[in-house]
Amino acid sequence: MRKRVFVSHQLPGDGLAKLAEHCELDVWQGEGKVPRDYLLEHAAKADGLVCLLTEKIDRALLNVCPRLSAVSSMSVGVDHVDVSALNEKKIPLGNTPGVLVDATADLAFALLLAVARRIPEGDQFVRSGEWEGVSWSPTLFLGHSVAGKTLGIVGLGEIGQAVARRAQGFGMKVLGWSRSQRDIPGIRYCSFDEVLARSDFVSINVALAEQTRNLFDQKALARMKPGAILVNTARGGIVDESALAASLETGHLAGAAFDVFEREPTSRNNPLLHAPNFVAAPHTGSATLDARTAMADIALENILAAMTGRPMPHCFNPEVYA
Ligand code: DGY
Repeated sequence: MRKRVFVSHQLPGDGLAKLAEHCELDVWQGEGKVPRDYLLEHAAKADGLVCLLTEKIDRALLNVCPRLSAVSSMSVGVDHVDVSALNEKKIPLGNTPGVLVDATADLAFALLLAVARRIPEGDQFVRSGEWEGVSWSPTLFLGHSVAGKTLGIVGLGEIGQAVARRAQGFGMKVLGWSRSQRDIPGIRYCSFDEVLARSDFVSINVALAEQTRNLFDQKALARMKPGAILVNTARGGIVDESALAASLETGHLAGAAFDVFEREPTSRNNPLLHAPNFVAAPHTGSATLDARTAMADIALENILAAMTGRPMPHCFNPEVYA
């Protein structure tokens, strides 16, 4: 009998058509995030589940899915999944590493430059007509130089290293810290505190886990170099957003730019959006057609492998196959 797969979103590329040759597909056709009740009802009838980072794959879901034998997430991050619960049931979890590295590093650098050079503010200034009354001025929209400055990278995985390469191209010195010490050419490995104290810019590229939740709390933010700029393209939950808003208000930090928020979509009342020199993006780190198509292809290859009795090519918890 053909296995049944629930897919929580329409996906780019032709992977769904290929999967349909082997499995019975049930694809959520609605707009936006699949409602939790719908997810539970349809996952309950499925052998395989393809999800996004917006779906919580927790014990409550697994408890109503007796047939479920594989989960494939179209994301590299898996903090939305209770991996221990999957491990207990020997359910493999697929993810999509590698293919979004450059897209995410590009966005980290774009945000760094946007906040350093106040690009969104300038754009607004031109569009609103305010520029018409001022003309060119020696002090208009002064920002922060990047060349010659120090970038501290927190998290030296593939994306952190790709951010470092971009920084080197811009003439920056690069310091780095990650949970396990890594010796990477061109990056001076330092303690977390040293990265905070010495960096003019800090880019967060570490995964959200127990150990990194609230890593940038009020105390860590206070230890950052005065006038520094913080960029987060990793996950909300790593930074205490209220503490950061306060730090921007007092001027201890000169700016920040985030692609990711504690709650997504974030509310327009998030204090960060009202703090000075804060730039926001709506979790678009991997949002290029190339990267998203490659992510969808991998997510669907992972589930196809699992549904046809093969190990997933990109499995986050390969220990379940032991
Ligand atoms: C991921 O895959 O985890 C990214 O956050 C998506 O952009």
